[in-house]
Amino acid sequence: MTKDTSNQMWGGRFAAGPDAIMEAINASIGFDQRMAAQDIAGSRAHAAMLAKTGILTDTDAEAIREGLLTVLSEIESGTFEFSTALEDIHMNVEARLKDLIGEPAGRLHTGRSRNDQVATDFKLWVRDQIDAAIGGIEALIRAFVAQAEVGADWVMPGFTHLQTAQPVTWGHHMMAYVEMFGRDLSRFKDARARMNESPLGAAALAGTSFPIDREMTAAALGFDRPAANSLDAVADRDFALEFLSSASICAMHLSRFAEELVIWSSAQFRFVTLSDRFSTGSSIMPQKKNPDAAELIRAKIGRIFGANTALLMVMKGLPLTYSKDMQEDKEQVFDAADNLMLALAAMEGMVKDMTANRESLEAAAGSGFSTATDLADWLVRSLNMPFRDAHHVTGSLVAMAESKACDLPDLTLEDMQSVDSAITEDVFGVLGVHNSVSSRMSYGGTAPTRVREQIASWQARLG
Ligand code: ARG
Repeated sequence: MTKDTSNQMWGGRFAAGPDAIMEAINASIGFDQRMAAQDIAGSRAHAAMLAKTGILTDTDAEAIREGLLTVLSEIESGTFEFSTALEDIHMNVEARLKDLIGEPAGRLHTGRSRNDQVATDFKLWVRDQIDAAIGGIEALIRAFVAQAEVGADWVMPGFTHLQTAQPVTWGHHMMAYVEMFGRDLSRFKDARARMNESPLGAAALAGTSFPIDREMTAAALGFDRPAANSLDAVADRDFALEFLSSASICAMHLSRFAEELVIWSSAQFRFVTLSDRFSTGSSIMPQKKNPDAAELIRAKIGRIFGANTALLMVMKGLPLTYSKDMQEDKEQVFDAADNLMLALAAMEGMVKDMTANRESLEAAAGSGFSTATDLADWLVRSLNMPFRDAHHVTGSLVAMAESKACDLPDLTLEDMQSVDSAITEDVFGVLGVHNSVSSRMSYGGTAPTRVREQIASWQARLG
């Protein structure tokens, strides 16, 4: 091969171009073209700074900044021809700029490197995704709050071990997810605040001898400040990992509710009816209405966990600073972000559209001896019985009801007194599910009054 085939960006010391396989393993343009807008924004900020500091002439900087807008419009309109030989988005954009404006294009890379450039582009991309995730989570929280408001005092079984435990309210269960997604919101907001430092101007790794103004580029790109250590700035991918780990926890929450929807929409539970818009039918069984969106959310979540693990694996063995391994960060984050956004939107749609079946919830609330704890608490309160003894007496009454195939409120006073003669008629007052939930007035408890307070406080918070 002749020298002509070597790379036009860094081919100076190379006699020959790369092997085709080398080109295939090396190139990232197939995926990093998703960062085109960020790359161009970063380069435009850099060019403006180079002019302001006198490193470039205003004329050259203006030609660069205008030319970059042309490149962007070509990319956005789909007319741009991406080249694998040019490796990545950074070199594709710069090469096209050279076609368009000639010599000044070669001055753009003064005082920077692809190492700070890629860190900057990727941070800007991840920051946009964090903002989108925050929007998606807020919308989902609103959908849960609306469900809670509709059924703030509807009773349903609360479960532990998926065994009926105690009656709770539908509103309380919905608001549990509001708390979970509320923590996700705060995790993404924390991550955003921590990551918002500009790598641009760290150059290859050591900074630069040109009198650049990093404050200026940081401000132009919406960063709070420049990153303080140039080695760290090009070696850091914590921002991507914090995005993935926050996304993983959020995804785990999505998956838990997806699992509840699969169970609740079954013929055995009938707690909720999912809308036709978010269900599918069966090609053979005419009666079927399947919760596919919930199942797919439950399954897709694994890709997000996988991305988190994969990037940790990429990073864990890398000495400072940049290594080409780090090019493997993007596809993981892109895939995780796409699937998180899709899962959030699908879940929001399902929650908005679903109908809770009040009668089924109430019927289930009273089954499974769900008010046994209320009975034990009554024995403690009214008969001054030690809780351990009350637990034992209640256990005997549950066994009796079980043998009679009835629920606790269906036992007669004589049945009750055969276990403990001090029990009075008053006990029946606590065996109903509505009394049970209304009595749980402790802060954070399931009583409708408490649930409505939580709803109001979230509505105020969401504005
Ligand atoms: N395509 C590269 C990446 O995504 C850009 C940085 C290349 N830097 C280098 N020193 N080869 O990481």
